[in-house]
Amino acid sequence: MDTIILGIESSCDDTSAAVIRDGVLLSSVIASQAVHEAYGGVVPELASRAHQQNIVPVVHEALKRAGVAKEQLSAVAFTRGPGLMGSLLVGVSFAKGFARALGIPMVDVNHLQGHVLAHFIKESEADHDQPHFPFLCLLVSGGNSQIIRVNAYNDMEVIGQTIDDAAGEAIDKCSKVMGLGYPGGPIIDRLARQGNPGAYIFSKPHIPGFDYSFSGLKTSFLYSLREWVKEDPDFIEHHKEDLAASLEKTIVDILMDKLRAAVKATGIREVAVAGGVSANNGLRNAFREHASKYGWRIFIPKFGYTTDNAAMIAITGYFKFLDKDFCTIDKPAYARVTIK
Ligand code: KG4
Repeated sequence: MDTIILGIESSCDDTSAAVIRDGVLLSSVIASQAVHEAYGGVVPELASRAHQQNIVPVVHEALKRAGVAKEQLSAVAFTRGPGLMGSLLVGVSFAKGFARALGIPMVDVNHLQGHVLAHFIKESEADHDQPHFPFLCLLVSGGNSQIIRVNAYNDMEVIGQTIDDAAGEAIDKCSKVMGLGYPGGPIIDRLARQGNPGAYIFSKPHIPGFDYSFSGLKTSFLYSLREWVKEDPDFIEHHKEDLAASLEKTIVDILMDKLRAAVKATGIREVAVAGGVSANNGLRNAFREHASKYGWRIFIPKFGYTTDNAAMIAITGYFKFLDKDFCTIDKPAYARVTIK
């Protein structure tokens, strides 16, 4: 019998549902929340309310597009954490209630594990370009910057992580001080393509091992900007492309320096990137350059799988389902946790 998993994601500001049959994606629906744009960041209470409005139509649409009746589902997989508690509660409660009503297993998914396993989503039976174990995954999002050693679908080890801000958070905050919109990542990316990455030099951290730090860069960016704006009030407007390109280059260099060190130390040359910041063109280019220069076998997700989506939750749920790793109804959502 086919294994058909419904995945549900609601950890932040995207309500998403996806259906996967035997590891192959049948549908993926995402309702993004424009309501936060006016506030320059996600407002948790508004996010939670929007999830409540979106969850039923999004699940309905995912099942419809997949051509799957709810009675055909084998299990419901859902993001249990980490994320915003009010947002998580909507998806978790819906998923548990739906699974219970259908009398099928519920599978809880760690959102971060989902980002990593997005590399195993197949869009067709013939889709086989997937990493081999063990591989390294650079997970870079608004909340995380980690280097993960992935030994198996369900066996991941964080070998390096940020000790303060995440890379995406640093980009978003620097974009905010430049008076650009939210989220800053895609705006910085777009501007950076037209700027000179060598125009400005920002400080890089000296942290031992494979750990990251981005708070010093953020401060250095802010202080430099203040000085320049004092001398020329229109400085940002006149130099935003060069500022974006230099900032992006600094962040990409910091990320790649540690990743290169991790590859050297572990001898693992299969290297993937995941999370929202993996949409960044500078980072993607750096991955390609490293592949040709150092012989890495690289895995860069399609744009649709970089940011939050339920397809990655469904595929993770699929592997956990095969392991009979189910969740019980009493297990609560969790706001904070890393990959185990
Ligand atoms: O994984 P994600 O969607 O959400 C979580 O943080 O869980 O990542 C969002 C982050 C934000 O900081 C956003 O600015 C960043 O990913 N981002 C980008 C790009 N697209 C999204 N950063 C750089 N370049 C991009 N093209």
